[in-house]
Amino acid sequence: MTFPKNFLWGGATAANQCEGAYVSDGKGLSTADVMLGGDKDTPRRITDGVLEGSYYPSHVAIDHYNRFKEDIALFAEMGFKTYRMSINWARIFPNGDEEEPNEAGLAHYDAVFDECQKYGIEPLVTLSHYETPLGLQAYGSWTNRRVIDFFLRYCETVFTRYKGKVRYWLTFNEINCMSISPWLAGGLPLESDEQARMTAAYHQFLASALAVKRAHEIDPENKVGMMYAGVVSYPASCDPKDIEANEDFMRSMLFYPDVMCRGYYPRYKLREFERTGIVLPQEPGDDEILRAGTVDFLSFSYYFTLVCGKKTKDAGLNVGTFNTGYTNPYLKESPWGWAIDPYGLRYILNLFYDRYQIPLMVVENGLGMYDTVEADGSIHDQYRIDYLREHIQAMGDAIDIDGVELMGYTTWGCIDLVSAGTGEMKKRYGFIYVDVDDEGKGSFERSRKDSFYWYKKVIASNGADLS
Ligand code: BG6
Repeated sequence: MTFPKNFLWGGATAANQCEGAYVSDGKGLSTADVMLGGDKDTPRRITDGVLEGSYYPSHVAIDHYNRFKEDIALFAEMGFKTYRMSINWARIFPNGDEEEPNEAGLAHYDAVFDECQKYGIEPLVTLSHYETPLGLQAYGSWTNRRVIDFFLRYCETVFTRYKGKVRYWLTFNEINCMSISPWLAGGLPLESDEQARMTAAYHQFLASALAVKRAHEIDPENKVGMMYAGVVSYPASCDPKDIEANEDFMRSMLFYPDVMCRGYYPRYKLREFERTGIVLPQEPGDDEILRAGTVDFLSFSYYFTLVCGKKTKDAGLNVGTFNTGYTNPYLKESPWGWAIDPYGLRYILNLFYDRYQIPLMVVENGLGMYDTVEADGSIHDQYRIDYLREHIQAMGDAIDIDGVELMGYTTWGCIDLVSAGTGEMKKRYGFIYVDVDDEGKGSFERSRKDSFYWYKKVIASNGADLS
C-alpha cells in the first residue's frame, strides 16, 4: 500500500475529554462541565450548573492539562507526525464574551505547542470540540448571531498568538451533530426544535466561513478544514421506499459539508425549508461570506455505518444509541452497539471525494472497548489492532485503487479518555492506558498497550507494515 510521503499519521483528543483542570488558571465553565457521566444504557444528564457532590467526568478526565509533557513524549515515541487536539474556548475567553483573553489559558497552549514542536509533531487544532463557554447560555448560545462575533474574537486571538506554531485547524467538531445532539454541537438544549437547530447551524456556517477567511489573512500558511461526524448509512433494502428514506436521512447529514465545501446551501435543503417553514436568519452579505469561506479540506470521524429505511423517521436517533430502527446483519458490533465496517470507510472516502474533490483527512477512528490489565501490567488489545489494521487497509484501497486524496489519519483517543457519548472511562480507545475509572479514581499512571508498539511500526513503515 502506498500512503503519500508526508502522510500525517497521529492521534486525536479533545480538551474536555482529557484535560481535566476544569477551573484552573482562570478557565470558565463550558457546556461539557455540566454533563454527568452515564453508560451505554443511561444517557448523560445535563445539570443546571455544577451540583455539589456529583462527579463530572470533564472536571478531572485524565489530567492531561498537567501531564501533557509525559503524554506528548509517548506520542513522539510512537512516531506521531501530528497530534489532533482542541483548544478549550473557555480557557481563552472564560465567559465567552470578554473583550480580552485570559493570558494563563493562552500560555498553557503555547507550552503544549512548544512540546509538540520539540518532537516535530504538527498540531492539528479543533477550535470548538463539543464545548461552548457556559456563559454564552445567557445569549441562547449559537441561536444568537452575536455568538459569531465572540467566536471570531477567539479565533483571531489564537490564530495570531499561535502563528507559526499551528498550521492546521478545524472549526467545529462534528458540525452535523447539531441535528443529532445539539448540546454537544453548540450548547443548545436537547429538546431544541428544528428551527433553533437550523438557526444555530446557519450561524456556525457563517462563523466557520469567516474564520477560514481570517485564518488565511493572518497566515497564508494556514489550512482550515471542516469536521463531519462520519455518519453514513446503507438503505435497508432495494425497496424504493427504503432507498428514499435512506436518501432523506443522508441529506439531513450531507447538507452540512455541502454548505461548507461548496459555499452555498443545496437546493434540496432550501426546498425542505420551504416545505417545513424553517426560516434562515439571513442578512445581506451572508451569501458572499459563505462563498468566500469554503474550507481547504474536509475531515471526518469514522466509527461505524448505519442502516436506514422506512422505519428510521420514528426511531430515536441520538449520539448514545444511533438507533435508526435497523441493524446490519452482515456486520459485528462493538459492546456499545457500533457496527464495525472497514469497507464503510472506503465508501465514505469515495462519497466525499466524488462529491467535493478536495483533500480529505480521517481525524477520528478507533474501537472503544473494555481493556483488561494483566497481573504484570500488560494490556493485550489485539481486537483494537485488528480493527485499526482493517480500517487502514480500507484507506489504502481508497488511495491506491480509487485515487482519493487523503492527507492524514489520527486515531481517536490515542490515549484513553472520557467518552463523549456516555461519559465513561471504561470505553477505552487508547494505545496508552490511563489508570482512572468512571468515578475519577486511580493513580492516573500511563502504560503502553500492545497496540502502542503495533502503531509505532505502522507509522515507521508509512503504513506498509500492518502485521
Ligand atoms: C466523536 C467525537 O463523536 O466520537 C468524540 O468527536 C468522541 O468526541 C468519539 O469521543 C467517540 O465517541 P464516544 O461516545 O465513544 O466517546
